[in-house]
Amino acid sequence: MSSGKELDKKVDRFDQRLEEMGIRIKDANQFKVREDVFDDVTLLALYKLVHKKWISVIGGSISTGKEANVFYGERDGAGIAIKIYRIRTANFTTMSSYIVGDRRFSGVKKVKKELIFAWTKKEFSNLVRARDAGVAVPEPLVWDRNILIMSFIGEGDVPYPQLRNVELESPEETYSQILTIIETLYKKAELVHADLSEFNILYGDKPYIIDMGQSVTRDHPRALPFLMRDIRNINRFFRSRCDVRSDVGIFNAITGLDTAEP
Ligand SMILES: Nc1ncnc2c1ncn2[C@@H]1O[C@H](COP(=O)(O)OP(=O)(O)O)[C@@H](O)[C@H]1O
Ligand SMILES: [Mg+2]
Repeated sequence: MSSGKELDKKVDRFDQRLEEMGIRIKDANQFKVREDVFDDVTLLALYKLVHKKWISVIGGSISTGKEANVFYGERDGAGIAIKIYRIRTANFTTMSSYIVGDRRFSGVKKVKKELIFAWTKKEFSNLVRARDAGVAVPEPLVWDRNILIMSFIGEGDVPYPQLRNVELESPEETYSQILTIIETLYKKAELVHADLSEFNILYGDKPYIIDMGQSVTRDHPRALPFLMRDIRNINRFFRSRCDVRSDVGIFNAITGLDTAEP
């Protein structure tokens, strides 16, 4: 058990290290977040990004997801989103308790780390592809190790709400915008989002697609089932809000296939 005092000391140490890098943390993020997110590897990557002037301010925590934390930040006064994939995830702790001490798996920590770096890079390049195809996604700026920096989709330091929390003025219009996005992603970017739902769409002046770490290219063996699932999710969300087209009808129109109605 660590006493309150020890915890305070630890927090001070974290703050000091961040401050040494010229990183200001605006809000008091919880210690747990700091400890889980800002390990040595991440601090080093942050340091590089600050040094290269990609980040001037790290603000408050916007989101703590299953694998990543997102922070608001600024670069020369402009808002950025800093997405940090956690190297210490709950999953890994459970995993490692089985693996530690087994010499066969001495490289597993390194492998895990490299997987996370590869994932970060993949999200970055997926965003680049989507953006090049003209899809409304955050502008990817840079990535380093487990950190991805992109333009901030929101107003001030408040992100646009997720689609699930929006009272849409014209659901039919938004529905059709999102179908167009799925189609453009598939045909032009040759990508399937693969986790598309009202959680991964931010809605402001229009819908923005986010969270593309798991997106796959069209030639991925599971691209089509993923596409079908994305379509089903969107239809499920809009069914109570406006007329929707059939899942299979949309799927066929996008892929040019001739799948039969179930
Ligand atoms: N570019 C961005 N601009 C503004 N907010 C963002 C941005 N990217 C992520 N967020 C915020 O962080 C949340 C989680 O981001 P997401 O990429 O979906 O991560 P996760 O993998 O944890 O689901 C989003 O719902 C949104 O509130
Ligand atoms: Mg998400």
